[in-house]
Amino acid sequence: MTKETVLIIGANGQIGLELAESLRNIYGQDHVISADLKTIDQPGVIYERLDVLDKDRMYAIIKKYNVTQVYLLAALLSATAEQKPKSAWNLNMEGLFNVLDAAKEGIIKKVYWPSSIAVFGPTTPRVNTPQYTVMEPNTIYGISKQAGERFCEYYFQKYNVDVRSIRYPGLIGWKSAPGGGTTDYAVHIYHEALKNKSYECFLSEQTELPMMYMHDALKATISLMDAPAEKVKIRSSYNIAGMSFTPKQIAEEIKKHIPDFTISYKTDFRQAIADSWPASIDDTYANKDWGWKPDFDLVKMTDDMLKNLK
Ligand code: NAD
Ligand code: SER
Repeated sequence: MTKETVLIIGANGQIGLELAESLRNIYGQDHVISADLKTIDQPGVIYERLDVLDKDRMYAIIKKYNVTQVYLLAALLSATAEQKPKSAWNLNMEGLFNVLDAAKEGIIKKVYWPSSIAVFGPTTPRVNTPQYTVMEPNTIYGISKQAGERFCEYYFQKYNVDVRSIRYPGLIGWKSAPGGGTTDYAVHIYHEALKNKSYECFLSEQTELPMMYMHDALKATISLMDAPAEKVKIRSSYNIAGMSFTPKQIAEEIKKHIPDFTISYKTDFRQAIADSWPASIDDTYANKDWGWKPDFDLVKMTDDMLKNLK
């Protein structure tokens, strides 16, 4: 069996730092290359500074390490993208083209690229949002993710590129910080609860959004990448669900551990982004095609987050 070598682009962000650790446990330290614009001191980690928009350098790194799979995580997330629409579109699309082209040219064998619940929009049914439904995103981030999904499917159908993708909900973990999304509050709230026993939330108390614990996001990503190709029937991106909650509900759960914790609300531009997204997700296809099932709900996640952050 040929040994896989994995290149993670955007490896020093919220997902990348944790995904790299999991992939190192699977493929070995020497077979996981972390690449990012941002440098972090991580002893023993093979790191290359890379701007994903620099196609020549990306190809050189792929060749240097005989990379077989690329996980493309470099992107601008929803809140930052609204502030910098042109850079967001450029990074989110051109970065993807560079990686898809490498696969089309046969330089790499497999691509992972995450999409998001942001592909849905205000005209999408909000509860139990189906895999196939109305999709009219009204954020730059959502528009770039939807276009990205279309291109992934196109490269699969036209050029047989083995590209796999998941529409992540808001991700929550204790090991790394979130990078400019609308769901970031659900990470900050745990830190602030432990540090200050209070949190001012930028979304309103009844804003329900789909969320997922990082453990489950990594499990889903690795299961999808490991699944036999014929089981991966959707080549745009899979809906997956973990849990759904409002700021009020997460605060109530935290109060069970920190009784004097208080939450207040001061909404900003991120409220409009959240209001355009689903409240919950139907993930029947992911379950049927490659056996997706989450392990964590709000109760279990809160317990684990607070235990580890302490
Ligand atoms: P993040 O912002 O935490 O990390 C992105 C990383 O990419 C950063 O380390 C950044 O330095 C790097 N980067 C930025 N521009 C780059 C460039 N030009 N070249 C190389 N590296 C560059 O983001 P994340 O939360 O880890 O998200 C990773 C992916 O998952 C993104 O595509 C995002 O849209 C998607 N996603 C994330 C969430 C979530 O809740 N975190 C939810 C849905 C989808
Ligand atoms: N968590 C992401 C964001 O808020 C969703 O893709 O941008």
